[in-house]
Amino acid sequence: MNDQINISGEKIEELQNLASQNLFMHAQQINDWAGDLKIFVKGEGVWVTDINGNKYLDSLGGLWFKSAGYGRKEIAEAIYKQACEIETPPANAACIPQIELAGKIAELYPDKSARSFLTSGGSESVETAVKMAKKYQMNTGKPGSYKVISRRYSYHGATAMAVSLGKPSTSDTMGPEMPGTIHVQNWDSYRIPNNMNPVDYAVQCANEFQAAILHTGSDTVAAMIAEPISAAFGIHIPPKEYWQRLREIADKYKVVLIADEVITGFGRTGKYFATDHWGIIPDITTVAKSLTSGYSPLGAAIATKK
Ligand SMILES: Cc1ncc(COP(=O)(O)O)c(C=O)c1O
Repeated sequence: MNDQINISGEKIEELQNLASQNLFMHAQQINDWAGDLKIFVKGEGVWVTDINGNKYLDSLGGLWFKSAGYGRKEIAEAIYKQACEIETPPANAACIPQIELAGKIAELYPDKSARSFLTSGGSESVETAVKMAKKYQMNTGKPGSYKVISRRYSYHGATAMAVSLGKPSTSDTMGPEMPGTIHVQNWDSYRIPNNMNPVDYAVQCANEFQAAILHTGSDTVAAMIAEPISAAFGIHIPPKEYWQRLREIADKYKVVLIADEVITGFGRTGKYFATDHWGIIPDITTVAKSLTSGYSPLGAAIATKK
């Protein structure tokens, strides 16, 4: 399908040259796109139109976040209206939407007294959650704990600490990870050992967290983090027993359980949070992406009353 786009060939060439000289793209080598960058100019619902007028169905929904669809004027108008009134509060104060959003998140979250720390995206939400966990441990009797257990074949963001938690991570080529980072096996839907019941395998994978805690000393472990459904290296949907076992292990060893719902949060699995499917409440949930469907850079670290 084609749309009429009134941008001249000269202008397109100018933009391609400018991008080739001055722009970095996320997770792509410059030589892979220089001179032939995909440039989009219009979006409506599930459809997007590029600078040459080609219309596409965006089946991925941005990078997994366009839940409300492209081109929603009422969202754009709400952002415009707020920016005309007051765009950000002065230091140590709040704006009305910030308070109402925190209230709305708590209303949707299984713990209605949950409190949100608003951030500018998923990586920052993960950073915040890890800091919250360490501070919580410091205040509640495990002051020496600083280690964080995450899983291989996970992705938790692009900032310097968050890449440590992901694996394989860019920290493999960028020097030491955050001290105290421990990686355990992921749940893997595609590599269940022959003849093994998926539930038994899920519990076995979850038990890797326990083995790591026992090996390193539970007094030193502040938090464990995982995506409810990891997506960076294949989409892996675990049986409910996996997260139920993670909850038991976290409780047993007084480790803060962080669910990274940056991809799964706000309705992408049919419930507001993927962990709602399994009847467990993490201590902290990190969200971003579908929280705003990409209309503004916003994330949150949602902490339970505990
Ligand atoms: C599970 C998960 N956590 C964190 C992030 C980082 O979010 P952001 O790109 O908003 O910093 C992502 C991004 O894809 C993600 O998939």
